[in-house]
Amino acid sequence: MALRKIRTGNDPVLRKICKPVNEITKSTLDLLDDMADTMYDADGVGLAAPQVGILRRAVVIDIGNGLVELINPEILETAGLQSGDEGCLSIPGATAEVERPDYAKVKALNRNGEEIIVEGRGLMARALCHELDHLDGILYIDKAKGEIKY
Ligand code: NI
Repeated sequence: MALRKIRTGNDPVLRKICKPVNEITKSTLDLLDDMADTMYDADGVGLAAPQVGILRRAVVIDIGNGLVELINPEILETAGLQSGDEGCLSIPGATAEVERPDYAKVKALNRNGEEIIVEGRGLMARALCHELDHLDGILYIDKAKGEIKY
């Protein structure tokens, strides 16, 4: 277990498109473990690999119902609309109102390389959409409706 440095602000790594994880290796599993440790240490509900400087499609989420690890996640379906304040560990101290789907269904691989389906409403849908955006270099401030509040 290890904490990794969270990239913040204008760090260019946050704006890159991440590559798929082609093979799940020991370093993939170490990355997922470290991402979870780093997320919990920072009191976050989600973290994507580029936020620790790794340009691979891997995400961890825990909105309070247990850890979810997603490798090569893809959105299969979204529905509805919610609006609410959102923040990001890479933009410390800021929040802004962002519209997101109220439901999201995602396909991914788990750490054993098995295909899993993860779906959620409300905060889970928001976390899924936010974290998957990170893998394409998109930050929530790009989608904010109003001003960024500090
Ligand atoms: Ni974020």
